[in-house]
Amino acid sequence: MSSAPPNQARAGELRQLLQRAAHAYYVLDAPEMEDSVYDRLYRELLELEAAHPELITPDSPSQRVGGAPAEGFSSVEHRIGLLSLDNAFTPSDLDAWYSRLLKVLDRTGDLAMVGELKIDGNALALSYEQGLLVQAATRGEGERGEQITGNVRTIASVPLRLQLENPPAWVEVRGEALIPDETFAAINAERAARGETLFANPRNACAGTLRQLDPKVVAARRLDFFAYTLHLPKDTPQGPSSQWQSLQWLQAAGFKVNPNAELLPNLAAVQAFFSAWDTGRRALPYATDGVVVKLNDLRLQDAAGFTQKAPRWAIALKYAAEEAPSILLRLACQVGRTGVVTPVAEFEPVPLAGTTVSRATLHNADRLAELDLHAGDTIVVRKAGEIIPEVVRVLSELRPAGAVRLELPQVCPECGSELVREQGEAATHCVNSSCPAILRGALRHWVSKGALDVDGLGAKLIEQLVDRGLVGSIADLYGLDAALLASLERMGTKSADNLVAALAASKQQAWHRQLYGLGIHHVGEVNAKALAKAFPSAADLATATASTPESITAVFGIGGEIAQSLQQWFATPANQLLLRALEQLGFPLAAGPEEPGAISETSLTGQTFVLTGSLPTMSRSAAQALIEAAGGKVSGSVSKKTSFVVAGEEAGSKLSKAESLGVAVLDEAGLLELLKAGSG
Ligand code: IVH
Repeated sequence: MSSAPPNQARAGELRQLLQRAAHAYYVLDAPEMEDSVYDRLYRELLELEAAHPELITPDSPSQRVGGAPAEGFSSVEHRIGLLSLDNAFTPSDLDAWYSRLLKVLDRTGDLAMVGELKIDGNALALSYEQGLLVQAATRGEGERGEQITGNVRTIASVPLRLQLENPPAWVEVRGEALIPDETFAAINAERAARGETLFANPRNACAGTLRQLDPKVVAARRLDFFAYTLHLPKDTPQGPSSQWQSLQWLQAAGFKVNPNAELLPNLAAVQAFFSAWDTGRRALPYATDGVVVKLNDLRLQDAAGFTQKAPRWAIALKYAAEEAPSILLRLACQVGRTGVVTPVAEFEPVPLAGTTVSRATLHNADRLAELDLHAGDTIVVRKAGEIIPEVVRVLSELRPAGAVRLELPQVCPECGSELVREQGEAATHCVNSSCPAILRGALRHWVSKGALDVDGLGAKLIEQLVDRGLVGSIADLYGLDAALLASLERMGTKSADNLVAALAASKQQAWHRQLYGLGIHHVGEVNAKALAKAFPSAADLATATASTPESITAVFGIGGEIAQSLQQWFATPANQLLLRALEQLGFPLAAGPEEPGAISETSLTGQTFVLTGSLPTMSRSAAQALIEAAGGKVSGSVSKKTSFVVAGEEAGSKLSKAESLGVAVLDEAGLLELLKAGSG
């Protein structure tokens, strides 16, 4: 056998090292490699792949992210349908299920079972062929799901290649995609900061993320995946003969298997497992809504078979819904940073899911109207773990006579100006830019972790500063002197000095943080980074929004809505004043030498590519990774500013647009040549 040429061997070695490190980090939760070493090896692989695109393999770590946004998802038939589970809520439901199972199997005595946590996420079906991930789909209606392979490739705990010497011809894996509580809280905090509606719970956030058209957004949301079902071709040698062995097989193949599964010898052990996790689950970093019990022996599973919609050999034991009745006291309204008014129900405190709850969101005016709330109503409130408390229903038959219906006020509860609800929008807004609630929100956002990250300026202090008229804009924060701060409630000389120093230091924060901190509608952390990279200063961005909006939408991930919001923001005189004031205070409002906005020059720096049609040997994501690794940018639409259009087979309107604008058109070979010249 001839040995591989040196580049090929090195690429293989790098892939293996990186895969091993990522597996240790994301699946085993036992990091083996320092981040900086990982980054260096990853960069080396990208460079090697850029110079020798023929070395790119579909399981290369470079192939996880970067798929171009999808236009929609196609529907696919599952090789094996995804069934649902029957539920049991009480010990007697469980007994009844077990008795039926014994009867169907014509058995007496104990049946060994596997107890697993019922992860409250979204089921996925993953297909591997010859060991490679070829398709990922949602459960859908069970028979057919949506093909979301590009999105699932970004989930770090999903192997792109099975870690097996001789993988079977095909493997079907089922499991649950989820968003851990902490990530969920961060996603919602960012949405709140942007004035967007919040996800009600991690499962909804996960479902919404999986259906995102842009895999980059999915990658940023850091989903996780637990595998729990394995299907192999019938003739697979040494295939598992029990569910327990299936879990071990999955683990050996590189999947993350929930470590809390247990082999349970009898029904009493099942009960104990269920009870233990009823309390134990509160300490888990992700949501579960019960446990799943599965007959261990796969031959017995076959013998037990299925009912119309669920296997007879498994059952979900669900925890009682965490709902409680309370008495509605009043309606409060919260005015967010962007002026969005959220109705909030205040009620008599009730214990729920480990905390005492006395307020619950009513989301918006529509939901409020739908619930038809009256003061003194008996309401049912729901909360579970990280889930935001909400009012689920009203027991209107218990309504006191003459109770007054609760409605959103006509005017802002903070500043008294008239509230506005645009046609077709769920949200009601206060549009007075000097409303103290909006100002407080803007200040909180400016000093928040992802933005300027100023320590020692909490919500309470901001409230005092605004209420006393000491601060009327973000810029005013920088004029506060230590003596004045020290005189405020709960402040001392030391904390005042520290705050002044922290504010002064914040002027050195990176440009993308400043941009995010401005709180422009739709410009969250991810968008701010992308924009800051493409437009290295506020002046560049302002000019572009006004004169070449297409250069804004040419930034990957930035759509028309964001461009419009930027345009509005920069055109508003109060915002122009703010920028000028910040500049006078010493904010560079531009990228420093080490920042992403100031990428090092390569021959492809500043060149924008548009990919269209299918290339003969490369996926679009591979082409994009190569272009980006070489310093170029990839955009979704063709404009006069596009440097090259790379066209493959069945290229459509983008190619004709390129031709009409006189933009250079390359085929795959041309692109590779350009990349080679660039790297040389
Ligand atoms: S087994 C036929 N195991 O619960 C076997 N499902 O209510 C069906 N789920 O659609 C799936 N954790 O999305 C299984 N350890 C686990 C699970 C689990 C969560 C979800 C899954 C399923 C739903 C049924």
